[in-house]
Amino acid sequence: MMPPERAAPPAADPAIDNWLDAGWSDRELRADVSVGLSSSPKELPPKWFYDDRGSELFDEITRLDEYYPTRREREILEREADAIAAAAGADCIAELGSGTSTKTRILLDAFAAAGQFRRYVPFDNSEATLRNAAGEVAAAYPDLAVQGVVGDFEHHLGHLPLDDADAPFGAPPRAPAMLVLLGGTIGNFSPARRPAFLDAVAGAMRTGDTFLLGTDLVKDVDRLVAAYDDAAGVTARFNLNVLSVLNRRLGADFDLDAFAHEAVFDADNEWIEMRLRSLRTQTVHIPALEMTVDFAAGERMRTEISAKFRPERVRSELGAAGLVVQRMWTDADGDYALTLARRVL
Ligand code: AVJ
Repeated sequence: MMPPERAAPPAADPAIDNWLDAGWSDRELRADVSVGLSSSPKELPPKWFYDDRGSELFDEITRLDEYYPTRREREILEREADAIAAAAGADCIAELGSGTSTKTRILLDAFAAAGQFRRYVPFDNSEATLRNAAGEVAAAYPDLAVQGVVGDFEHHLGHLPLDDADAPFGAPPRAPAMLVLLGGTIGNFSPARRPAFLDAVAGAMRTGDTFLLGTDLVKDVDRLVAAYDDAAGVTARFNLNVLSVLNRRLGADFDLDAFAHEAVFDADNEWIEMRLRSLRTQTVHIPALEMTVDFAAGERMRTEISAKFRPERVRSELGAAGLVVQRMWTDADGDYALTLARRVL
């Protein structure tokens, strides 16, 4: 008998390394919540926004009129991808927080056209997202070796497989790799934590490798705030969604109607701060942590910082990690920057 006809070609099945054991995410969540909700002021790290619903809401944010960073970054990528490929001279792209790898396609096309491109290493903390994205890239670029890594980029950068482990003995030394962190994600690190993160990035690189970094830039306060407090309320739903994540995963009983979204620009620190403000005096139970948490009326809990940069600051912070800026590209309005820095030692 004939095998059943396939509706679509077999999905490519790319290689995936997983550094996150089954309990990793639960342990991190519990530690973050128990520390963050016993601190004063209370705080929850932004990484917990991104369950399925949160990722959908973030996707919706990137299409909002007020949220310019995604569009600006794509403009710069489309305009400069060939220049980036030429300057980096890389045969491997490793992308931190690769997500759906949508914007990366612009880079992959330009690097493939430049000729020597061989390897793509997407790195993400969601195995399902990574598997989909890596499979799609592998199918679209049959000549590319795709090696995905499931990990947490605050812990597992040392395991980035920039080299092809199957290369024959005596193969010529590889071309440089380019590490990529797009979207302004670095803005989620406080200035105090950025040096250690950039040191870890530089430590995952070898001499001659480059790092392509997307950063949102300091600008008019009204535009900054509007990007994090949109008229349609999508960012508010995104912010409140973190409470649903705690309800679902830790059995907590947060009432989402009892908190309000806030976004303010802290001009001294040059970061946007998102908060949830308790609308009344209330006590929340978190059974998985055997914890009860009291909120005063009006009390604010910080859920995210999104740091905004000046070009000089990008340059000096990368420099402190031994990464020398080779080129910096911005859009015509100076809203956003892409910076290519090389590890020189
Ligand atoms: C994904 C961290 C880059 O800071 O702009 C968007 C997240 N938060 N709207 C950002 C976010 C609210 C976003 N990053």
